[in-house]
Amino acid sequence: MIINIKRSKGFQTYELDVPKNIILLELLHKIKEIDPSVGYRHMCRAGICGTCAIKVNSKHILACKTRLSAFEEGVINIEPIDNAHVIKDLVVEHQYFFDKYKSIKPRFWAFNNAKNCIACFVCNGVCPVMNLDKVFAGPFSFARACGILEDQRNQEEDYKRLLEGALNHCTHCKNCNYACPMLVMPEVLIKRLEDTMISKGLLQAPRNDLFFGF
Ligand code: SF4
Ligand code: SF4
Ligand code: FES
Repeated sequence: MIINIKRSKGFQTYELDVPKNIILLELLHKIKEIDPSVGYRHMCRAGICGTCAIKVNSKHILACKTRLSAFEEGVINIEPIDNAHVIKDLVVEHQYFFDKYKSIKPRFWAFNNAKNCIACFVCNGVCPVMNLDKVFAGPFSFARACGILEDQRNQEEDYKRLLEGALNHCTHCKNCNYACPMLVMPEVLIKRLEDTMISKGLLQAPRNDLFFGF
């Protein structure tokens, strides 16, 4: 099996004999035995901590929850998640995403499926807007914020902060819904936040004159 890993100077190729159903995190461990300089992150090995998110053959996944057999046979390309600052090889800076979240963070907690978020940042990795719009706080931030804002104690100012993170720049492409390993459905939560803001008069309803009908 040929495995290419994105490193600071480009892809590095490793050739090794591994079972088809090997977990990708175990595969990375095997590569590390050959080349101890390869950098990647993991902690829980159980899909809980979110630290092992990587991109494999263009798909964002958790390395500890995904088997090699999930990918077609042939060359496997492993890269860090997109839209992130790379520290080393597959290791990305989480603080960058937390800082984005801090820019819109409300004050109290409440419960919805945002509580299942493990901060793996896969949703931010697959979001096309994050790459183009540096102000956009990203699906992770808005999913977390939705968990907090649905607590009735929260004030209008907390909702207004969502616009500082450009909530309304989300294109609702739903990439984040499909990619999230914890079924948090960030886009659904973003839609809910937008609807609440529209009902509070803090956001304009989208124009309906662009649909294609017969
Ligand atoms: S919302 Fe889903 S994809 Fe995004 S950080 Fe949380 S668990 Fe990961
Ligand atoms: S639905 Fe919105 S937040 Fe989610 S990936 Fe698409 S643009 Fe980004
Ligand atoms: S190592 Fe914790 S989610 Fe993969």
